[in-house]
Amino acid sequence: GIRTVFFGRLVQWQRGHGRHDLPWQQTRDPYRVWLSEVMLQQTQVVTVLGYYARFLEAFPDVRALAQAHQDEVLALWAGLGYYSRARNLLRCAQQVCSVHGGEFPRSSTELATLPGIGPSTAAAIAAFCFGERSSILDANVQRVLSRVLGFGEDLSGVRHVRTLWQMANSLIPEDATPEAMAAYTQGLMDLGATVCTPRQPACTACPMRGVCVAEQQGTPLAYPVRSSK
Ligand code: ADE
Repeated sequence: GIRTVFFGRLVQWQRGHGRHDLPWQQTRDPYRVWLSEVMLQQTQVVTVLGYYARFLEAFPDVRALAQAHQDEVLALWAGLGYYSRARNLLRCAQQVCSVHGGEFPRSSTELATLPGIGPSTAAAIAAFCFGERSSILDANVQRVLSRVLGFGEDLSGVRHVRTLWQMANSLIPEDATPEAMAAYTQGLMDLGATVCTPRQPACTACPMRGVCVAEQQGTPLAYPVRSSK
């Protein structure tokens, strides 16, 4: 069944077909992973690459960023859009330094209390850097999981999103290693970006072929269900 094979198949698929070469995948430094995740929230990988490199050159660690002036941060962000991300980035760095002694907290629960870090970004940082067994659930992952599980409840409100998140966490084995959690989390992102796409999902190339409810029904486009937005 899906509960026993999903995690293992996705980790294997990520090792063979996912991305491994991005600069923020070469580190477990939470500062670098956090910066990449915030940049990637609303911006494509190809665009982020240059910004990420210039930003790290200017601010190599969280203390350097915390001491920056907002105008410097906004100048390095110019062109990326959604400028509240840049203001929150500075506030977050200041809070990591003033409240947490310059070390990012290691749990997704604590990470999610910081400015600009929502629950899915918090889970991504905790999984990539600290091996925490928590699922991400951004819009792409909501699509992947609602198809695989045949989850037909309305995801435009928080109630069913919460249920799907519990189901997502229950797909992670008790004994998942930190390395497997990192591969799994990247695999969820990469499967949604390259195979389980919104309009033309490549079900014949999917590692979940044969266990995905939507694929077996022949109705991938029926998921996710969103009555509004
Ligand atoms: N989008 C959000 N996080 C990402 C990541 N780590 N790799 C690729 N795309 C992403």
